[in-house]
Amino acid sequence: MEKNKRLFIETYGCQMNVYDSEIVLSILANDGYAPCDSLDDADLILVNTCSIRDNAEQRVWGRLDCFLQEKKSRDVKVGVLGCMAERLRQELLSHPAVDIVAGPDTYRELPAMLRRLEESGESQINTTLSLKETYADIDPIRTDRNRVSTFISIMRGCNNMCTYCIVPYVRGGERSRDPKSIVREAERMYAAGYREVNLLGQNVDSYLWKNPDNMTETVDFAQLLELVALVAPDLRVRFSTSHPKDMGNGVLYSMAMYPNICTHIHLPVQSGSDRMLGKMNRKYTIAGYMDRIDKIREIVPDAAVTTDIIAGFCSETEEDHLATLELMRRVRFDSAFMFQYSERPGTKAARHFPDDVPHEVKTRRLNEIIELQSSISLERNRECIGGTYEVLIEGTSKRDSNSLFGRTSSNKVCVFPALGHRPGEYVNIKVESCTSATLLGNIVE
Ligand code: 5AD
Ligand code: SF4
Repeated sequence: MEKNKRLFIETYGCQMNVYDSEIVLSILANDGYAPCDSLDDADLILVNTCSIRDNAEQRVWGRLDCFLQEKKSRDVKVGVLGCMAERLRQELLSHPAVDIVAGPDTYRELPAMLRRLEESGESQINTTLSLKETYADIDPIRTDRNRVSTFISIMRGCNNMCTYCIVPYVRGGERSRDPKSIVREAERMYAAGYREVNLLGQNVDSYLWKNPDNMTETVDFAQLLELVALVAPDLRVRFSTSHPKDMGNGVLYSMAMYPNICTHIHLPVQSGSDRMLGKMNRKYTIAGYMDRIDKIREIVPDAAVTTDIIAGFCSETEEDHLATLELMRRVRFDSAFMFQYSERPGTKAARHFPDDVPHEVKTRRLNEIIELQSSISLERNRECIGGTYEVLIEGTSKRDSNSLFGRTSSNKVCVFPALGHRPGEYVNIKVESCTSATLLGNIVE
């Protein structure tokens, strides 16, 4: 048999993409490709890409130029996977470095595509989207370093059609994975020593599995959460992303009932202005969003709430922007991902709404949002000082090899002196001080 080929895979974008890269490693391992840690050793370089904002794409074009240099000195094949592959298709194939373009639902075809490339020398492309593919039966090859916390994809695609977003076009329609295969994957992870699984979907609240043999048998997200929580009491369960229009109280009651379902909800608001939310097609108002926040605080009082915010969406006025700052002060998010609006070709916003907020105004508004959030994050963390929290240890602190780091159930990173403890253990930490991003403390009994 031919000697093993070596595969290097580089991943951009969200955790979903990290998971997909692990699926690809598994599919290609069965075809004789061994993962390697360095680009220099690879016979095949794959780059799993993201299209969410223009800067994510620009980085990948830069990488392709680097791979082209690599190809000049040796025989190496290059493939582009993921959202950019789906969006740009032939345009990517015409880059001189690229041999393969494969969209997010075509990874099972990669071995056949590689064989055809080998035989014919002709570049290969497949960007077919599927209504069914969930890769449910594939056991991903994990690439996380800590072996404590990992991800499980529970659904693929998105049906929401937010006007700014490219995801429905590049990831296709929503489909939910068989809950039995999700639970089995969580059990395997637990047996391998993992103590935390993050359930991933674009909109986990619309998870709905229907038994194909008996359509009356269904599992919704609140039920799925419970099934995974029951795998083991010391296996933490996290999930993201929640959607304000779909997050029902059932999920909150599941969280309140099972101590191992983590008390953190990522609930992207995007804007504090009803006019902007309407234009974004988010299908909720600020009053509706606040109703969800009130319910979270009533049913899971210690839950942390984090969010995503876009600055400078089409026609956003100073008044809309001030409404976003006002909402942030009202909710007091524990942390946030904050972005400038980036027009994505093909979306409804790109087709119908002018991208008319000047770049410097977007930047200024984003900076105001970031500044406010960092003071709120600091205040939120200060509220933890003096409290004791259960922390799952993930690894050694980057700054200090005698310290460990882990997370509280509410997803706050916590750093503390090691005292002989190891990753994968739970410890109680009394918080002594903090920054806007980290809690600092000591182990207590
Ligand atoms: N421009 C800027 N940010 C965007 N997001 C999605 N599409 C865009 C865009 N075109 C942000 C949203 C989403 C997060 C994953 O990325 O805030 O929740
Ligand atoms: Fe993930 Fe969205 Fe980027 Fe695709 S476009 S990799 S789904 S963040």
